[in-house]
Amino acid sequence: MGTKKDITSREDIEQLVAAFYEQVKTDDTIGFIFTDVVKINWEHHIPLIVDFWESILLDNPVYTKNAMEVHYVLNKKMPLQKAHFAKWVLLFCTAVDDLFEGKIAALAKTRAKSIAALMQFKMADANK
Ligand code: HEM
Repeated sequence: MGTKKDITSREDIEQLVAAFYEQVKTDDTIGFIFTDVVKINWEHHIPLIVDFWESILLDNPVYTKNAMEVHYVLNKKMPLQKAHFAKWVLLFCTAVDDLFEGKIAALAKTRAKSIAALMQFKMADANK
């Protein structure tokens, strides 16, 4: 239909991330990992994840950490399973589709899926 715009700014990514976490927080499969296992500080976490996506989607390298690292730590407390990744990807891609459409929106979904697949593989390997 072409009624939605593409992701073109940091503000767009902030909107996407807010919508994504709105769903994550109350999700039966993964919500507790953020609210109970990690007791995440959202004010600290949200700007980091926005940086991460800004680096990938807008080609602006503001995120300089290794995103895989925190998940290894998390995986030790709470082994991350296939079902967790599947739900994470579903919620992320749904948030993208609800708000945006276009090349960058498509790239967001492709990258989310490929990073999640890589992460799932690495975490499973770490559990052996
Ligand atoms: C099973 C799926 C996932 C779960 C349950 C999960 C959970 C979490 C949690 C709880 C944190 C906060 C850790 C902390 O601050 O101690 C975090 C951080 C983060 N996650 Fe995930 N995550 C998942 C998948 C992904 C994927 C697929 C990506 C990338 C596409 C991603 C990107 C990030 C980034 C960028 C951070 C911030 C890292 C930093 O502190 O610099 N996560 N995740």
